[in-house]
Amino acid sequence: MDVSRLLLSIVMVMSTSDGSSEASDSSCFNLDQDRYKVIKGEAFYYVPFDLDDPNLPDANITWYKNGPEVMNITTDETHRIHYHGGALFFLNISANDAGHYSARHIEASGECFYYHVKIEVFDETSRENLTYGSIRNSDQNKNIPCPQPVKDTCKTFNGNFTWFKGKNLIPGQHKERLWVNDATKEDEDIYTCLCTWTHNHKVYNSSGSRRLVALEKAVYENVKITSPNTTEQLVKKGSSVKLNCTVYCGINAAWDCEATWLINGNPAKQTDGYNETTKLDIEDPSKRTFSTATLTIAKVSEDDFQHEFKCLGSGFYTVTSATLTLKKDESFTFIIVFLVLGACLILFAAGLVKHFVTDLALLMRPCCPPRRCNKGTIC
Ligand SMILES: *[C@@H]1O[C@H](CO)[C@@H](O)[C@H](O)[C@H]1NC(C)=O
Ligand SMILES: *[C@@H]1O[C@H](CO)[C@@H](O)[C@H](O)[C@H]1NC(C)=O
Ligand SMILES: *[C@@H]1O[C@H](CO)[C@@H](O)[C@H](O)[C@H]1NC(C)=O
Ligand SMILES: *[C@@H]1O[C@H](CO)[C@@H](O)[C@H](O)[C@H]1NC(C)=O
Repeated sequence: MDVSRLLLSIVMVMSTSDGSSEASDSSCFNLDQDRYKVIKGEAFYYVPFDLDDPNLPDANITWYKNGPEVMNITTDETHRIHYHGGALFFLNISANDAGHYSARHIEASGECFYYHVKIEVFDETSRENLTYGSIRNSDQNKNIPCPQPVKDTCKTFNGNFTWFKGKNLIPGQHKERLWVNDATKEDEDIYTCLCTWTHNHKVYNSSGSRRLVALEKAVYENVKITSPNTTEQLVKKGSSVKLNCTVYCGINAAWDCEATWLINGNPAKQTDGYNETTKLDIEDPSKRTFSTATLTIAKVSEDDFQHEFKCLGSGFYTVTSATLTLKKDESFTFIIVFLVLGACLILFAAGLVKHFVTDLALLMRPCCPPRRCNKGTIC
C-alpha cells in the first residue's frame, strides 16, 4: 500500500467514525465512486481506479450490485456479468445493467476496502454526449488518445484498435492514439476509439469517444502597450476621465492577453471612485489581438495628481508596463491671465494715448496757432 492510499485510509477512518458511512461494515474503508457511461450492446471491463493490480484471488473480494436488494455477482464466466479478482466484466451490456456496483476487498494484510462504481447505459445514438472530454488546441497535428478504460481493456486482452470519425471508419489506424495531421475546422468531429477484444473465445467491442475542436493557430508575441503613448495626461480637477490601457498580444492570442490598471501599485477600487472595465478585441481578418482596460475616474481629485497610474500588459511570454501621471490642465487659467493682461495692456495704451493727446496738443501748439494768428503768418 502506498502513502497516498494510507493517508486516504486515515481520512476514511475519520469519516466513517462519525457515522456518515453508508457501508455496513465500519472497519472497511470506502473509496471514491467511479462513474462510467457505457454503450448498449458493448462490453465493459472495469478495474477500480484505486486498485493497482486486479490479479488477486477471487476469494479475497466479493462483488455485488446495490439496489433495493443486494445482488451478488458470480465468478461464473458464462454469465454476462461476472468478476475475476479485481476486475468486473459486463458483456453485451443492457439497459437493465445500469446501477451502482460495489466490491468488498480484504487485503492479505487484513485491511478492507470498498470500491464503488456507477454504470450508466446509453444508446449508440447518444454517443456525442458521452465523450471522455474534448481535445481542444491549436496544434497543427492533433493527438487524440484512446480513452483510458478502452485503452486499458485493449492492452489487457491484446485487442485491436480501430478509429472512427463520426460514424465512418478511418482506414489504416490501429494505434492507441490517433494523429490528425494539418487539422482544420473540417476535422472537428466526434472521434471514437473502438477496441475489439476476445474473452473466452468470444469477440467483444468496447469504445470511447472524444470530441476534437480545432482552435485557430495562435502567434504570441512580446506584449506591446499601444496606449497610453505619453507619460502625462492633462486633466481638469473635478472632471471625469477615461484612461485606456491597450496592449497588443499577437495573432489569435486571446487566451493570454490581459490589460489592467494599477494605481500606486494597487488594483482600482470602486470605493475610491474608480471603475475599470476590460475588453478583448480581435481584428478581422488579421486576428491581431488587443486587450483594453478602461479606467473611469468619476471625479478627478487633488490626490489623483500625485498617483502613479500603471498600465500593465501581460501576454504568453512577457509582461510589460507603462506609467502615466495626471497633470492639471491649466489652459483655462491661462486664458483668464491672458485676458486680464490684455485688458491691462489696453488700459495702459489708452492711458498712454490720453497722456500723449495733451502732449501732442502742446507740441502742436506752436505749429497750429489759434485762429487769431494774423493772416500770412508762416509757422
Ligand atoms: C486483431 O487483429 C489481428 C491481426 O489483424 C487478427 O489476427 C485478430 O484476429 C484480431 N483480433 C480481434 C479480436 O479482432
Ligand atoms: C463491433 O463493432 C464493429 C464495428 O462497429 C461491428 O462491425 C461488429 O459487429 C461489432 N462486434 C460486436 C461483437 O459487437
Ligand atoms: C478606449 O478604448 C475603447 C475600447 O477599445 C475605445 O472604444 C475608446 O475609443 C478608447 N478611448 C480612447 C480615448 O482612446
Ligand atoms: C463601471 O462601468 C461600466 C461600463 O461603463 C458600467 O456598466 C458599470 O455600471 C460601472 N460600474 C459602476 C459601479 O459604476
